[in-house]
Amino acid sequence: MTAALAIERLEAGYEPGLPIVRGASLSVAPGEIVAILGPNGAGKSTLVKAVAGLVPVSGGRVLLGDSDITHTPAHRLVHAGLAFVPQTENVFAGLTVAENLELAAALTKAPRAEREAQLGAAYAMFPDLERQRRLAAGRLSGGQRQMLAVARALIARPRVLMLDEPSAGLSPKLVAQVFAKLAEVRASGVTLVLVEQNVKAALALADRAAVLVEGRERLVAPAGELRGDARIAELYLGRAPSGVAAATPVGGR
Ligand SMILES: Nc1ncnc2c1ncn2[C@@H]1O[C@H](COP(=O)(O)OP(=O)(O)O)[C@@H](O)[C@H]1O
Ligand SMILES: [Mg+2]
Repeated sequence: MTAALAIERLEAGYEPGLPIVRGASLSVAPGEIVAILGPNGAGKSTLVKAVAGLVPVSGGRVLLGDSDITHTPAHRLVHAGLAFVPQTENVFAGLTVAENLELAAALTKAPRAEREAQLGAAYAMFPDLERQRRLAAGRLSGGQRQMLAVARALIARPRVLMLDEPSAGLSPKLVAQVFAKLAEVRASGVTLVLVEQNVKAALALADRAAVLVEGRERLVAPAGELRGDARIAELYLGRAPSGVAAATPVGGR
């Protein structure tokens, strides 16, 4: 079966000759939820930003279904079927909830009737947002703001949704609410890739997880297998646990 998203030996970074993502590979099946874990500075955000067309790619490729989307600018990926929720500044704080969603709908350039349908679907999935549609996004609670960011990303009806730390700054109760909504999003047929610092919550939600260290995936396994697995802590501490290959330099495989 064709992967929904395939990242193949990707190299990416902010400055030429200084790759942050160093040959990362990850294949995500349609309908799957895959979590990308790893210590601070491992390159998780850079990886998803590179896939989202926001950081220059210097090697490897990214496939969205059958399409090669490497080097596709971010604004085109919306139409290709890939959506991205960045960790910060993922809503327009000064605009109302309704304006945030209407702007996302306008950006799809769909005909008016289709845009109305998109907004209707968003409010149906996020009834709390409908109740707060006239509130400035900046006045929403952290959890609701994250919901709005997800709702905005879903407006274009993506096949794959990537999120960078959707649980950041949220209380455990709100993390549970946001993650329950993400499970609903998957049930609606969207494939999910999420970067997470909250290992426990991520492994409870995801089907599989990848641990990224120094720009490469070091361990990819079913989430159920990784719950309580000491190898994760070892990788976070910069050690090479038994049964996990040591890091190889760029181009070393
Ligand atoms: N905008 C940027 N410009 C230059 N270097 C950056 C930028 N953002 C991140 N980096 C560097 O890239 C590395 C990986 O960062 P990041 O991808 O944010 O890691 P993670 O999300 O895993 O914590 C870090 O060394 C960081 O300093
Ligand atoms: Mg990050």
